[in-house]
Amino acid sequence: MHLRPRRNRRTSAIRALVRETTLSPSDFIQPLFVHDGTEDIAIASMPGCTRWSLSGLVKEAHEVFAAGVPAVVLFPAIAESLKTPGAEEAWNPDGLVPRAIQALKEALPDLCVITDVALDPYNSDGHDGLVEKDEQGGLHILNDETVEALCLQALCHADAGADIVSPSDMMDGRVAAIRFALDQEAFEQVSILSYAAKYASAYYGPFRGALDSAPKAGDKKTYQMDPGNAREAIREVALDEAEGADMVLVKPAGPYLDIIARVRESTTLPVAAYQVSGEYLMIESSAAAGWIDGRAAALESLTGIKRAGADMIMTYYAKRASQWLKEA
Ligand code: PBG
Repeated sequence: MHLRPRRNRRTSAIRALVRETTLSPSDFIQPLFVHDGTEDIAIASMPGCTRWSLSGLVKEAHEVFAAGVPAVVLFPAIAESLKTPGAEEAWNPDGLVPRAIQALKEALPDLCVITDVALDPYNSDGHDGLVEKDEQGGLHILNDETVEALCLQALCHADAGADIVSPSDMMDGRVAAIRFALDQEAFEQVSILSYAAKYASAYYGPFRGALDSAPKAGDKKTYQMDPGNAREAIREVALDEAEGADMVLVKPAGPYLDIIARVRESTTLPVAAYQVSGEYLMIESSAAAGWIDGRAAALESLTGIKRAGADMIMTYYAKRASQWLKEA
């Protein structure tokens, strides 16, 4: 026997030399929740995550950036009293997100600030788009009217200083419309990271609890993708690329590694993946019960997502994983 693959695994030094995929803090994007209050509040549905006040947000962003993470993505919890069927608060220039962007860019000019473009935190119906109800009580998510609202929202974020706007709504044609709107207003330097392949997933449940943003009625299956589909993801990516996306995202990540790999093959754009709230909590809850080594499982899951082809990963582990990598 002369072929012995185990020789390449013999010592830690050799394993390091032959390792194909290594994680680095610069792979990560930290999602941060923010609310319009003075307290930093632990999120019951997402242990380990916090709804930050504006000052808490800035403090946390300092830690995230110091850990080597280059970017954050903001998710606002909006007061019920500000939610309307038209979601107008989404482009209020004095709203929570623009103030958060300004505070972050002032404190940390080199931190990349990404914003989520979708109406669900602002919409009294809890949908990513505007809702029309028919006489039978059926719900319809209005595509083109929503796209107009998303353009206003993206402009509002760009005006406040966002580096990247990230439409997560899955309406048709929104990337082209947002690109056009940004360019018209001389925001041609603002990037678009499009959620190109976002699936209608049970793994988002804890996040909706974190923001009180669950749909009041119906589900998101007429705009988010069917979990059985892969070719459709390639089509969505091709469309978003043609419409001017700078980066494309696959979401969730762990149950969709095949999609990440196929998207990676189908485009030369940078590919992002979102390890969502349910994926995070599966690891966290098993670790809390003592059933799994949470740190090892988290790093392994992130390595798998990168190995599948993701250039960057949105993950609730961003800061912690970066600290773990430094200790290792
Ligand atoms: C909504 C949005 C969702 C997430 C990010 N942006 C929820 C949804 O689509 O219902 C989920 C993130 C997570 O579960 O961690 N625009």
